[in-house]
Amino acid sequence: MGEINVVDAPAQVMASEKEMLFLSDHAVSKKGNDTIFGCYARYLQAAESGADAVNGTVGALLTDSGRLAVNTIVIDEIRNADEMEFASYAPLKGIPAFLDLSKSLALGGSREQLESLGIHMTSIATPGGSGSLHIAAKCFANPGEKVLLRDRHWGPYTGFLDGCGLKMETYPLLPSQDHDDFPFFDHLSFEQAVVKLANEQHHVMTWLNDPAHNPTGLSLPSESRIELLNIFMRQAVNHSKVGFTLLIDSAYHFYAQETHGWANTIVEALQSGMMWPENLVICFALSISKSHTIYGMRNGALICLHPEEEIVSRLHDVFGVTGRQAWSASPRVSQHALCNLHADAQKSLVWRESLDEFHALLHERRESFLQACQQYHVPINPTHDGFFAWLETDRASEIVEACASKHVYLVPLDGGVRIGLCAIPTHHIERVAKVISEAIFETKGSV
Ligand SMILES: Cc1ncc(COP(=O)(O)O)c(C=O)c1O
Repeated sequence: MGEINVVDAPAQVMASEKEMLFLSDHAVSKKGNDTIFGCYARYLQAAESGADAVNGTVGALLTDSGRLAVNTIVIDEIRNADEMEFASYAPLKGIPAFLDLSKSLALGGSREQLESLGIHMTSIATPGGSGSLHIAAKCFANPGEKVLLRDRHWGPYTGFLDGCGLKMETYPLLPSQDHDDFPFFDHLSFEQAVVKLANEQHHVMTWLNDPAHNPTGLSLPSESRIELLNIFMRQAVNHSKVGFTLLIDSAYHFYAQETHGWANTIVEALQSGMMWPENLVICFALSISKSHTIYGMRNGALICLHPEEEIVSRLHDVFGVTGRQAWSASPRVSQHALCNLHADAQKSLVWRESLDEFHALLHERRESFLQACQQYHVPINPTHDGFFAWLETDRASEIVEACASKHVYLVPLDGGVRIGLCAIPTHHIERVAKVISEAIFETKGSV
């Protein structure tokens, strides 16, 4: 299965631990290779040596034959672009039509409602959702401050924060059983952490990868979303001299049942009379990688909402300068192609149909995985949407090794095992659950 190359081969382990005087202190702290890429390389090696190996490692949607799923109309639209679209720079902040489109992709039908409720919004084009996270890290916290995350989160968050001199504070992904008023949101720990940070720093920023959380596939239901928003707004009012940023990382929202749940929740909150505090912004880190299957083109946007036009316009400049200082402009041809595609109702429909097929494939894999986990008594975490499922365990490496010995390749992360349903062919799903169950039993008997 060597034909797909969704990730690079692992870098050679550094030749030695020699002192390298030319590296900065910050650079010296950077070590090794991404765990996920390493696991994928092991899978590739096994497959190439003829083993009947299963790939549950990568974070890209693969078809049942192991090829990267591609939304063909997007690629056709890029191919059809004029050579100038390939060759020219994009405007530094992005092509205006793309910025407009990015707001609709992030907010869906709620965009107009938000605008009619007096919410202003700005967007800047970024190289992927990663670029949006970088801008947020640079602009919404001071070096040394902590950003609030759930304890289970996408690994690169730590690197984005570290690269900007930031630290993290975490709260549990799920509540303990005696505090389960919101079964998928630990509202007590969240509020405690928000208050603590608000008392200690000038900025409180939280990053929330929802819906379809990486690495668990968890999506917050609307009651949890409204509770989270209530808490954040309440604490912003209580700490009026502190800047509050709620960043929704919507890398996978097009693979969730409630694609625009967060925008709907904000509308609902405003319609029920919630006052938006002046010291609060809400941002969406939009990624085009998965929604349009152009991971390598590096497109995304940071969309920011606030009731005051002047504030939003100032943020537009701040973001633009920050992007300029990091990567200049974002890639142009794909911004151009997406605008053409979505300006044409027929093409847009073709994109949607293909997306729906991918979504259905993921849904089928998740359903059969959940069923098989039940059959083989695998205590899998709650999982609803997106690319992944998650086994919470403090023996992740042992379990992953035991699975690898049976040629099922998964990813050990802090606190658990990530199961890449996005990569596992549907006909192998049951085998994966069975092998995990055996691995749990062989290595100890319980997670
Ligand atoms: C949780 C999460 N956020 C953001 C991203 C950013 O993706 P990209 O930079 O490719 O748009 C990813 C990609 O895997 C992700 O998993």
